[in-house]
Amino acid sequence: MSNDAITTHLKETRRFEPPEAFAAGARVPSREAYEALYRESLDDPDGFWRREASDLVFRTPWTQALEWTPPHAKWFLGATLNASESCLDRHLGTARRNKAAILWEGEHGATRTLTYAELHREVCRLANGLASLGVVAGDRVAIYMGMVPEVVVAMLACARLGAVHTVVFGGFAADALRDRIQDSQAKVVITQDGAWRRGSALGLKQTVDQALDQPEAKSVTHAIVYRHLGEAVCPVHMKRDRDVWWHELVDGQPLRREATVVDAEHPLFILYTSGSTGKPKGVLHTTAGYLVGAHVTTKYVFDLREEDVYWCTADVGWVTGHSYLVYGPLSNGATCLMYEGAPNFPDWGRYWRLIEKHGVTIFYTAPTAIRSFIRQGDEWPAKSDLSSLRLLGTVGEPINPEAWTWYHRVIGGGRCPIVDTWWQTETGSIMMTTLPGASASKPGATGLPMFGVVPAVVHSDGTQVGADEGGLLVILKPWPSMLRTVWGDDDRYKQQYWSDVPGAYFTGDGARCDAEGYHWVVGRVDDVLNVAGHRLGTAEIESALVSHPAVAEAAAVGRPDDLKGQALVVFVSTKPGYVPGPELAIALGEHVGREIGKFARPDTIRFADALPKTRSGKIMRRFLKDIAAGRETTGDTSTIEDLGVLAKLRADDG
Ligand code: WTA
Repeated sequence: MSNDAITTHLKETRRFEPPEAFAAGARVPSREAYEALYRESLDDPDGFWRREASDLVFRTPWTQALEWTPPHAKWFLGATLNASESCLDRHLGTARRNKAAILWEGEHGATRTLTYAELHREVCRLANGLASLGVVAGDRVAIYMGMVPEVVVAMLACARLGAVHTVVFGGFAADALRDRIQDSQAKVVITQDGAWRRGSALGLKQTVDQALDQPEAKSVTHAIVYRHLGEAVCPVHMKRDRDVWWHELVDGQPLRREATVVDAEHPLFILYTSGSTGKPKGVLHTTAGYLVGAHVTTKYVFDLREEDVYWCTADVGWVTGHSYLVYGPLSNGATCLMYEGAPNFPDWGRYWRLIEKHGVTIFYTAPTAIRSFIRQGDEWPAKSDLSSLRLLGTVGEPINPEAWTWYHRVIGGGRCPIVDTWWQTETGSIMMTTLPGASASKPGATGLPMFGVVPAVVHSDGTQVGADEGGLLVILKPWPSMLRTVWGDDDRYKQQYWSDVPGAYFTGDGARCDAEGYHWVVGRVDDVLNVAGHRLGTAEIESALVSHPAVAEAAAVGRPDDLKGQALVVFVSTKPGYVPGPELAIALGEHVGREIGKFARPDTIRFADALPKTRSGKIMRRFLKDIAAGRETTGDTSTIEDLGVLAKLRADDG
């Protein structure tokens, strides 16, 4: 993305001050109060984090806050803990014992409530069950489930044993699951028979079977299957000696299990995410730093109160589900709503009815969802009473000011502050936003840094750009919940995050910072796309395409899209003997769906005799992006090997 594009993007001047009534009761009631806390977090990190983490359970306190040997950080050295004790045990001796931890609603309207005491019991039973299968601290466990309370139980049961969970989003296909199992060398997979999605049953166990039947997945000794839909709706085949039913495994297990105490830097989870090159990378988060980051940001960004009903709509398969559905809210003793299904099932009023029915006070969702609601019209939210809401949040992609103001007016009734939270799988917790009682929001700006976070917008040589000038978004200091490495590939960690800009963590995003210190993130500047809030690596899509027999070469690029932020456009040249056309396009779309997952299917497939390349043979994505977006090709074409290729692609454009 050119600097100019970054600078001119989002010239927005409106600002919304925190409503007085909100600020009066807020944890951080003014910009000055925020500044003081922020400064303290940098001047005295040890004192700051010690106080802010004091309600978490540490078995031994830390002796040193940070050890920084760039690019490797260790936080809270000497501390020991178990993350599940902060999320569960610490509430049991308090009034929260019988408070709802999870309010769950299935797509067809079934409801369940799990109190903290009940959640603790289920976690202990499953931890005992996992231990009986031989799972010990440090082992990896893959979790491939939908949005049922048991996915939370499964994550916390792993944490209780010191086992490392790797949750794989239920929309991923068998091959993508297999790759993640192989890379993490998972010993056990936890899954469910199936899940409801938009009225139909999605067979998850069936996909696990396809993954485990391949030799690459041989590290797995057992699959645990939670029965959610039942035999009549979703029959499954249980493989002898490998598959066990969840209910049989936990039957008769003791209701308690002593938590395994681990070191602060013990791995808590691996979460795979797309990068600009090669296969997805396993982002590794460790116990104390991650937990502290998720805990403190949840408390402050959502200004959490004991009586809140908090709803984060993210799927637990993504990092938002990890930090703001599980570790953050549960370590704060919050009541979380969890909804199994699609936002438009059976109609576009579903979310709003859920808010009314459960009295949701805090609602956290993605801009893509907001934009699809806008398209359906104001009459859907108007049918429900949304007056319980007091705070709104967004995450995952830049929000356009129109969507922001609609969200503010129609969903928030003009009275709820909006926190636009910028962060990444790698950062573990929210890095920038405007604290709701402290700082004014500007539609489209994510805002100011969270405690301990030092962002900067720089040129590629690391020098800072001026106010309002576009550049690369970097983070200058280590923060507690930062990723520690890429699982099994530390070189890639160094290369991917610490080599582009000298001495800084490079986020992959472009941004500008205005004179007031607000950051305006415009999106990725690397070869990662953000399609409907899903991160897709162009390299992954391309390698999926070229694995199809018809494809000679492929290039994937993003095109601006009103609804999804970016749409996925692929350019494909075919091998001799294959006929480009609609039939092949459908087959290729299905192929990508099978290789990665349906959510990664291209929006547009364009056939080309050849792709524009430099003389050294590199595909020139810049031109393809212009063509995909229907823009005039800009910039220097002198390095292009065959200008005819470009002319041909344009002509095909019509
Ligand atoms: C983008 C999701 C603008 C950004 C938590 C980042 C955002 C990527 C915002 C990370 C925001 C996330 N405004 N862009 N508020 N939040 N992004 O790893 O490009 O799935 O690098 O983590 O999403 O996506 P990831």
